[in-house]
Amino acid sequence: TQDIAQPVLETAPPGFTLETVLTVHHWTDRLFSFTCTRTPQFRFGAGQFAMIGLMVEGKPLVRAYSMVSPPWEEHLEFLSIKVQHGPLTSRLQHIKPGDRVLIGRKATGTLVPENLAPGGTLWLCGTGTGLAPFMSLARDPETYDRFDRVVLAHTVRQVAELAYRELIEGLREHELLGELVREKLTYYPSVTREPFIHQGRITTLLESGQICRELGLPPLSPATDRVMLCGSEAMNADMRTLLEGRGFEEGANNKPGTYVVEKAFVTK
Ligand code: A2P
Repeated sequence: TQDIAQPVLETAPPGFTLETVLTVHHWTDRLFSFTCTRTPQFRFGAGQFAMIGLMVEGKPLVRAYSMVSPPWEEHLEFLSIKVQHGPLTSRLQHIKPGDRVLIGRKATGTLVPENLAPGGTLWLCGTGTGLAPFMSLARDPETYDRFDRVVLAHTVRQVAELAYRELIEGLREHELLGELVREKLTYYPSVTREPFIHQGRITTLLESGQICRELGLPPLSPATDRVMLCGSEAMNADMRTLLEGRGFEEGANNKPGTYVVEKAFVTK
């Protein structure tokens, strides 16, 4: 009998599926994103996260990542920082189309519209990779059903870190979402460490009232506004103080409020 080479069968550890990387995009030397296949059984709501990562020396090495892609999209997309000595991202940044990644079977998280009182203006405030969950929410028609207006405020250090800027600006022409986006979505990118049309931290822009004035909106208030936060520990803490000072109350699963928070998880 002839020797037939056996394919190496990879198996996913319990609670994960092995998916195939489809595309990789490097935004800067600190930031990249990738798409991968999605098992049809993987269900999630816009704004949620899952555990994702790689098999390393026969063991799963995973971190929490928010889905960038909207729930209706066939594939999954994730946005990540690159840290030279980070246990996961030092490896993950080298993935190529055809490589396999681990995706947790269960999605969860607090940045979902159900956790906020409906109506008013929804502020999506993200710094750095904290943009990720808002990319999903901004492309989910349900977000626009629940709120009168949506402001997507993304703050980064440098212009090159404004990931997905063209995609977001192009949503106005999107075949299915265009009308909702033109009616309700405002994209407000801001940069803190070089010149740009909008400059400064989101905390400063809200505190001074500058962003509301520019957008023709009333001062931030729990009577008219809902806020989702996704940034560094420091950004979330400063925003929390600002919001609570104005009477906003934190929402959670089964307890809707006027703001919700999630850490932009992966820092290593
Ligand atoms: P800054 O350049 O003034 O530090 P990072 O890349 O460090 O995660 O930062 C992403 C963005 O978040 C940067 O524009 C940074 O501004 C901003 N940022 C950092 N800390 C805070 C904070 N406490 N409140 C608001 N924005 C912050």
